[in-house]
Order: sequence, then structure tokens, then C-alpha cells
Amino acid sequence: MVAAASAVGERKLTVSDIRYIEYRMQNNSTQVIRPARSLQGAIRLPGDKSISHRYAMLGAIAEGDTKIENYSTGADCASTLNCVQGLGVAWERDGGNLVIHGKGARLRAPKAPLDCGNSGSTIRMLSGILAGQDFTTELFGDKSLSKRPMARVITPLESMGAKISSKGGGRPPLWITGGKLKAIEYNMPVPSAQVKSCLLHAGLFADGVTKISESIRTRDHGEVALRAFGAEVKRDGTQVSIKGGQKLHAIEAVVPGDISSSAFFLCAAALFPGSQLTITHLLMNPTRARLFDVLIGMGLKINLTQVEEHHGERVGTARVEGKSLIGTTLAGADSAALIDEIPVLAAIAPYTDQGIEIRDARELRVKESDRIASVVTNLRAMGAEVEEREDGLKIRGKQKLRGAELESFHDHRIAMAFAIAALRAKGETTIRGADAAAISYPAFYDMLDAIVER
Ligand code: S3P
Repeated sequence: MVAAASAVGERKLTVSDIRYIEYRMQNNSTQVIRPARSLQGAIRLPGDKSISHRYAMLGAIAEGDTKIENYSTGADCASTLNCVQGLGVAWERDGGNLVIHGKGARLRAPKAPLDCGNSGSTIRMLSGILAGQDFTTELFGDKSLSKRPMARVITPLESMGAKISSKGGGRPPLWITGGKLKAIEYNMPVPSAQVKSCLLHAGLFADGVTKISESIRTRDHGEVALRAFGAEVKRDGTQVSIKGGQKLHAIEAVVPGDISSSAFFLCAAALFPGSQLTITHLLMNPTRARLFDVLIGMGLKINLTQVEEHHGERVGTARVEGKSLIGTTLAGADSAALIDEIPVLAAIAPYTDQGIEIRDARELRVKESDRIASVVTNLRAMGAEVEEREDGLKIRGKQKLRGAELESFHDHRIAMAFAIAALRAKGETTIRGADAAAISYPAFYDMLDAIVER
């Protein structure tokens, strides 16, 4: 059981895998999830999506060959690799490693528009690099990405000197004409690590020192990765700053296991008292680790051991024991810190004693789907009572759910969240469009099967 699970966790994505995923997604595949009794096993997860994107982008503009082990297997991070390839950056798989042949700061004008697929991280963070290139790039994405707001990167990049046009009021496609940039001081109106990284990337190409302030602290992988590649990035309270003109140097790195993917398994373990789950090589970056505190506060037993730091990122082993869950309220900075984990926390909320209330999470409405509406629709289909609010939702505890026909809404985190909720429902659940999971975690259902006991 343990060996099977690790083997699945270490599977690497090939080009034919990506074609297969695309085929399955177009064909709107379904998954049937049967109820479970417990979760047992030891697993290792594919590399964190946020870190993989950043290593690929910075590797592309670094000097030398960057070697990355455990790069995310998700289709989103494959989109980033395809985009950098379109900009003249060669990369290849060497066994389990990804090798990126960095071109330094100057990339090549693409011969065709760049396809960012479903990935908000790709389009927003790459925009910062393109703003510093002296050519025009068209960036486009799938149906979901074409609806997502880009003004949050367009406005500050334009004030640095880039010329950007977009379709339909700041939505993709984007046409970015880069060139000489000037540094700005910018207060981010929306807490967003993608925007922060975008501006740090642009700051590398600007004259002067670019300063970005965030009133709510977001994940710091952008700063940490830039430092790993040799740049100096300063933090002073709520402000980060970067001086333009710095050169990046290639690194050799192992991407820690994806902490947002771990949330599905941690929540699954939490549903069954007596479950025992070990996750090795897991990302434990403090700006992402609020998840552990919240689950511990709700009653889950989590022990973090063998904690080490690699390239500024904390990584370790989490040992988890299922206990019955109390419930919680998430608001303010917690909602921002847990934005990717809220769907699964909400999906298991009916099984807690006191329920879960989520406030200040309006950003969920502009993710891969409107995640508040998606969660509410699916929970109601399973028979739960849910109160929907503009910026969140309130879900009563001690509710019994029944298996149902659910939609992924083409959203990876919704598909996976409801595969977890289905484990404790009465009867089978069918998830339509279940292979949306491949956006961040193609082997998710195999891994779940390997550790679930029925
Ligand atoms: C991410 C930041 C978050 C998150 C996304 C990844 C990142 O988005 O939801 O999955 O890697 O910086 P926002 O920047 O829109 O909050």
C-alpha cells in the first residue's frame, strides 16, 4: 500500500500524459467515488504548483542550466513550460529532472500567441517578465482564464511603462509590448501573490527600485525564489523591494510536495477518526502553513518532523491522525492565506461538530470557477444546508450528506474537494468533469484510491 502510493506520487508527466489529460478534459470525464472507512498510508506529493511556476520562469531568464526535481505534474505548470519554450527557452526532461536552459534576461519574440491554458499564475506572473522584453507577445487562455480579471497586473505594469491591451475590460487575451521600464511604488489593492510576483519580475527589468506593499501578507514564494536565483529582494514590514538590472543564476532544486494538494488528504484523514497518514517532503513555508494551524485548531492531530530548509523553502514530514473535527471561522488574513484550501474545508464542513463560516473571501468568485457558487451548488446537491454570502459562506455542522451527481465546473479544486466530501456521504457520488483535477494533480484519484480503506 505504502509503496504503491509513493510510486503514484512520484509519477512524472510526459507530453503524451498532457495530451491524454486534455483529451479527458474535453470529454468531460466522470469519476464515481464510493464511501470510505478510513485513510491509511505514507505518500509523497508532486511538487508545489506555486514554486514550480516560479522556478520555471526564473530558470528561463537565469544564466545557465537550472535543474528541477519533482516539478509539478499539473497541466498548469506544463502551460508555463510551453510558454517559456515559445519565448526561445529550451528545456528537457532528464530522468526525473527538468532541465531549463536559461537564456538570461533577453528572450526571443514568440512566433505565435502563447497559450496559458487554465493558468492564472502563468499569465499574470509571466506578464511581468514580458513587460521587460522589447517585443509584443499575445497571451491567451481557455474559457475560464478568458473570464478572469487581469487589470490587477495591467494597471501597475502600464505605470512602469509597458503597453498592454486586452479584450473585454481587462480580460485575456493580453497583448504586451515591453521595453524600458521605470520602478514604481505600488500598494496592492487586492492581496495577490501572483500580482506581487509579476511586479517583482518586472522590477528586475526596471530602472531603480520597485517597491510593493501588501496590507495582507500573501505567500512569499516569489521573494524566496528570486533570492534562490541570486537576486537581492528586501522586505521591510509590509513592503518588498527589488532593484532593477540584477542577473539571475541557475540553480539545482527539488520542489517540495504541494501543500495545497496535501489539503485534500489531510481533510480526508480528518473525516475518519483513527486514520493515520504520513506525507513526506511536504512544503511547510510559513506563509502557506496556516492550513496546519487551522486543522489542528479544529481537532486534527498533526505532527511536523524532519523540517529542513532548501533554497529558503521549508520542507518536512507531516504525520496526521484523524480525530473528530470541531469547526471554525475563517476571516481576514486567514481567508487570504487559505484561499486555495477553502473549497475542501467548506466541502467537509457539514461533517464537523460546529460547522464552518468563511468571510472576506470574495476572491473565490474570480478563481477557475466562482468557487463560492460551485461549493454551494454541490453541497446542496448532497443535501446540505448552506448559507451563501457575497464574500463567503456559512455551513452548519452535524449534517449528513448523501451521494449525488456533482459538477467540477471545470475547476480542479472543486473536483478534488468533492471527491473528499463524497468519502463520508451515504451512497455513491458521481463527479462530472472530474479530470479537471489534472490542472494541478493528474494522479489525484489514483493516490486517493491507494490510501483509502473501504
Ligand atoms: C498563487 C496565488 C493565489 C492562488 C493561486 C497561486 C501563487 O492566487 O490562489 O492558486 O502561486 O502566487 P492570487 O494571487 O490570485 O491570490
